[in-house]
Amino acid sequence: MEKVIAEGRQLPGALLPILHAIQDELGYIPVDDAVPMIADALNQTRAEVHGVISFYHHFRTTAPGDHVVQVCRAEACQALGARALEGHIKQRLGVDYHQTTADGQVTLEPVYCLGNCSCGPSLRVGDKILGRVSAARFDALLDSLQTRPVEVL
Ligand code: FES
Repeated sequence: MEKVIAEGRQLPGALLPILHAIQDELGYIPVDDAVPMIADALNQTRAEVHGVISFYHHFRTTAPGDHVVQVCRAEACQALGARALEGHIKQRLGVDYHQTTADGQVTLEPVYCLGNCSCGPSLRVGDKILGRVSAARFDALLDSLQTRPVEVL
């Protein structure tokens, strides 16, 4: 984190790039450590840094599960059945939005349009966007996420 902050502080408008870089690296922003370090480096108050982190929904302050699944809740996907899919996903995972499954594998998040409107319902899994997701396709996806490679010793 020191390195990311040291590199990022030179950029104009350094706060957002630094926060993105930390989240990309760690999966979340460990606020207790990160906020004082960033505030000192950028000569801002801790409250200012906290305010930016909490304003942008993209930033997470707790560690996510192994996979982050984002379900599009915006209009076009709703018109293509996203509501029913959302119900299925929550039931299948046993969690609501902003929660992680008990086995720590999947964090479920809402998202408001992924730019894939004509091919909804849309999901993002990590960096991948999937379209025309049905309940059956989601189940298949979940199976593939839960299949861990077997280590050969
Ligand atoms: S509305 Fe879902 S991708 Fe745009």
